[in-house]
Amino acid sequence: MRNLIDIQDLSTTEIEELIGVAEDIIENPKKYAEACHGKKLATLFFEPSTRTRLSFEAAMYELGGNVLSVTDALSSSAAKGESVADTAKTVSCYADIIAMRHPKEGAPLVASLNASIPVINAGDGGHNHPTQTLADILTIHREKGHFEGLTVGFCGDLKFGRTVHSLISALSRYAGIHIVLISPAELKLPSYIKKDVLQKNGIPYEQTTDLLAVMPELDILYMTRVQKERFFNEEDYLRLRDSYILTPDKLKTAKADLSILHPLPRVNEIAVAIDDDPRAVYFKQVKNGKYMRMALILKLLEVVL
Ligand code: NCD
Repeated sequence: MRNLIDIQDLSTTEIEELIGVAEDIIENPKKYAEACHGKKLATLFFEPSTRTRLSFEAAMYELGGNVLSVTDALSSSAAKGESVADTAKTVSCYADIIAMRHPKEGAPLVASLNASIPVINAGDGGHNHPTQTLADILTIHREKGHFEGLTVGFCGDLKFGRTVHSLISALSRYAGIHIVLISPAELKLPSYIKKDVLQKNGIPYEQTTDLLAVMPELDILYMTRVQKERFFNEEDYLRLRDSYILTPDKLKTAKADLSILHPLPRVNEIAVAIDDDPRAVYFKQVKNGKYMRMALILKLLEVVL
């Protein structure tokens, strides 16, 4: 039985297969409409979510399956003190697959060690978010057609932004990738990721606080929200939250074929005026997330069509 806890749980070939299935779903949705008939997905979300939970649920419905849902910690037995392990054992009695989001790093891993059904990490604290990475990867693939040789800028909260951690880990498999890390000094990418992912794979990277200085180099600009919920004090959050606000003016020196991604939700970091720029692909990214989650559910449930 397979789980998806970390993006490294998938080989490069498997990621390519998921892209292939997602693109086939986009072309031939009817073929998949009953693929998960009689199967149930449990979405266990102990942290806020709009896109991730709803896209998992939409994905399962579009595969002809059903959904059981915990939408916040307070409405489940977690509020009574139940452990993640016991929750996983319990939900295994009702469902066929679990997607779990949890504020504690490692909670979906603990769930996977105790569940008798596949577990998908839908975001664990400030750690990882592998299914957002699948959405990001399909978006880059559809916009650029390749990963090799791209210069990818990550801007904003690189310390707590779990989507950044997982996407860097996925991209570091491809040749010629160049990573540009743009953040305030306080929100730099954690050193364990620089060491264990970037340096270990020989990925060239630069760190800067200045988005405008690096703008002309970028093929992809991955904007992120400053992760308010991970701060220990409000003052630091208020000081750092508007460090980067992307406005049309700042795109003047950007490449004509830049792709601007954002996992969403956005707060202030991308002006709404950018939404109509053809380089803004963050709403396409939302849609791609649903197709990749459909492909992932099929894979983990070992559905053969
Ligand atoms: C991200 C997350 O939850 O980490 N959102 C998402 O799943 N699309 C990004 C964020 O909350 O800033």
